Amino acid sequence: MLSVVVLISGTGSNLRALLDAAAEPGFPARVIAVGADREADGFAHAEAYGIPTFLVPWREFDSREQWGAQLDAQLSVWNPDLVVLSGLMRLLPVSLVDRWSPRIINTHPAYLPEFPGAHGVRDALAAGVDRTGASVIVVDNGVDTGPILAQERIPVLPEDDEHTLHDRIKPVERRLLIDVVQRIATGDLDLAAAAPAT
Ligand code: GAR
Repeated sequence: MLSVVVLISGTGSNLRALLDAAAEPGFPARVIAVGADREADGFAHAEAYGIPTFLVPWREFDSREQWGAQLDAQLSVWNPDLVVLSGLMRLLPVSLVDRWSPRIINTHPAYLPEFPGAHGVRDALAAGVDRTGASVIVVDNGVDTGPILAQERIPVLPEDDEHTLHDRIKPVERRLLIDVVQRIATGDLDLAAAAPAT
């Protein structure tokens, strides 16, 4: 059984989908803890499943490195097989990424390498593209530059705003995330091969 810690910043709807999937009989992974950089609404999903949560409040640290060291310490307590960034809106320090990669993956609401960063949906709309997408990647030390594990195209509709487009992207992200976690757990997807050390 693959053990997973999920890190969030917000509503955690993708976390919820993973928790729902993991509750199905036969799903080969389980979420053992959920962490966040601030009091995230998504903690409610973890609590609904009786899954422990931990908070490493970004605002209480003087630097990314200090915050990351505390986050790393929390991850080490749980020592999961896989860390999933599911809407964590903070860049991680190099030391943490180096320690956990390639066992750390991220969902992103765009078809990477298009529109990386914190505003993938907004940036796609601003660029006027007629299709964007959803991606799941291995986290590396760039901004959404890691090896792509799964991705899918999603059309942009003329009437879309950031909210409606993101609402259509998220269900695809959820499906891709659940599939990737499942494939990692069963050994069908080998993260070390997908993200060879450089
Ligand atoms: C998701 O779309 C996720 O891909 C995105 O934040 C959303 C979180 O939604 N992450 C990023 O943009 C990271 N660059 P949720 O809190 O409802 O799961």
